[in-house]
Amino acid sequence: MIVLGSDHGGFELKEAIMKHLKEQGKEFIDVGCYNTDSVDYPIIAKKLCSKITSKEAEIGILCCGTGIGMSMVANKIRGIRAACCSDTFSARLTRMHNNANVLCLGGRVLGIGLALDLVDNFLNAEFEGGRHQRRVDMFED
Ligand code: RB5
Repeated sequence: MIVLGSDHGGFELKEAIMKHLKEQGKEFIDVGCYNTDSVDYPIIAKKLCSKITSKEAEIGILCCGTGIGMSMVANKIRGIRAACCSDTFSARLTRMHNNANVLCLGGRVLGIGLALDLVDNFLNAEFEGGRHQRRVDMFED
């Protein structure tokens, strides 16, 4: 299961991603926000991460103005490996090498077309394990 969340700065991007996922027949949970009213991004980031740590979802996508605030909050939570990306290579490699489980995107940074490409690259990539697992274990511990 995929879980999505945004603040007001990432709301429109989250809407576009949800439409994109629906078109692909993918299921997701939306933890808000649900309109463009101002909301504090740490509340949404923590809500989304709790869906992953409780195992209701495996993968999360967080959108705020830059993607940075969301990634800072998410990375403070044990078991969350969040990557703020703005290029498709990083979005793919952070899954393959870092086993990232949350993608953070900037609604005020990225165009919709590029953002959807980042989402597809992230969701379609697989963790390679091996030496990368050893490295992930080194910081998860
Ligand atoms: C909200 O104005 C903005 O600060 C937030 O969306 C995000 O960019 C924080 O990192």
